[in-house]
Amino acid sequence: MGFSEQEQQHEAGRLHEKLSKVGWTVEDCKLIAPMTLEINQLKRQQNALILAHSYQTPDIMYGVADAIGDSYGLSVEAKKSPAKKIIFCSVHFMGETAKILSPEKEVLVPAVAGCSLADSITAEDVRKLRRQHPKAGVVCYINTSAAVKAECDACCTSSNALKIIDAMPQEEIIFIPDKLMGQNLQPLTKKKLILADGRCIVHEEFTPESVKAIRAQYPGIKILAHPECSPSVVSEVDFIGSTSQILDYVHTSKDKDFMLVTECGITDRVNIEKRDKNIYGSCVLCPYMKKISLAGVLKALKDPTEHQIVKIDPSVIRKARACIENMFALEKKSQNLGLTARQIPAES
Ligand code: 13P
Ligand code: SF4
Repeated sequence: MGFSEQEQQHEAGRLHEKLSKVGWTVEDCKLIAPMTLEINQLKRQQNALILAHSYQTPDIMYGVADAIGDSYGLSVEAKKSPAKKIIFCSVHFMGETAKILSPEKEVLVPAVAGCSLADSITAEDVRKLRRQHPKAGVVCYINTSAAVKAECDACCTSSNALKIIDAMPQEEIIFIPDKLMGQNLQPLTKKKLILADGRCIVHEEFTPESVKAIRAQYPGIKILAHPECSPSVVSEVDFIGSTSQILDYVHTSKDKDFMLVTECGITDRVNIEKRDKNIYGSCVLCPYMKKISLAGVLKALKDPTEHQIVKIDPSVIRKARACIENMFALEKKSQNLGLTARQIPAES
């Protein structure tokens, strides 16, 4: 597809307006302009919707995505959209979640990207845990495969995990797969949690020492962390929340200085969307999320490979959907405020 020099210049300018805030030069933007032009044209022609998780690279988030968000919010976006085709720029389980909620749509992922949490547990592992703890209910974090969700009673996200656990009818809950998130939740609930052994390889990298060092260097800084971090890190921070809750906090807070204890995509988003905020300390890259590229998005639109098309057995879709729908039912039932016991209002 040929684009005129003028179209390419204009596109490079559009990209540069956003991406320059995270260090992209005009030359960098000129290089990707033909590809973002082609992707956006094919997207319109095919009535496709491109979704990007907040851990994606800025060229994906601001070059081609129609919506940027967290794992669950984007799947809801996919369901609400009239688009027939969804290109989900993120790890595989998120593409599966969109397919579970919208089986009639064609859902594609630009690369086959795992997740250390989702890959840590299988459907058979869940059946085994059930046999070992027959009285327990099973709650799975959204970072699980469709096959695993199909074996669980209810799903949860990082923002509603406590609500869901508290609203379950059982006193014992098998919480899978994130051990560290489970350890963060245990002191907040009266239920007995039985934990699996999954970990997020990104969030387990942060240490309480690194957090303390930044606080000592920048007194008054607000430190925000994802609940996939270890309890020793969580005990040092001011706020714990999902990726969207962290972003909302920064957007609504009057504070200027922050450390974001999560993947680097969130820092990119703040640097691009909120220039008046200062981010200190280092972030960690998710190697799975960063497998997604513009070239992969283009391929998925033009001539998708078998691996890019999200396919799930209809019986698995049915059971996994029941697990997700139970999350809504339990959320309604719950009067609990969720993980707010350790959250502080953004304006404090
Ligand atoms: P969110 O659900 O908060 O977007 O998190 C997904 C994830 O993979 C965090 O590491
Ligand atoms: Fe999975 Fe962690 Fe990457 Fe999120 S950041 S996708 S939990 S490995």
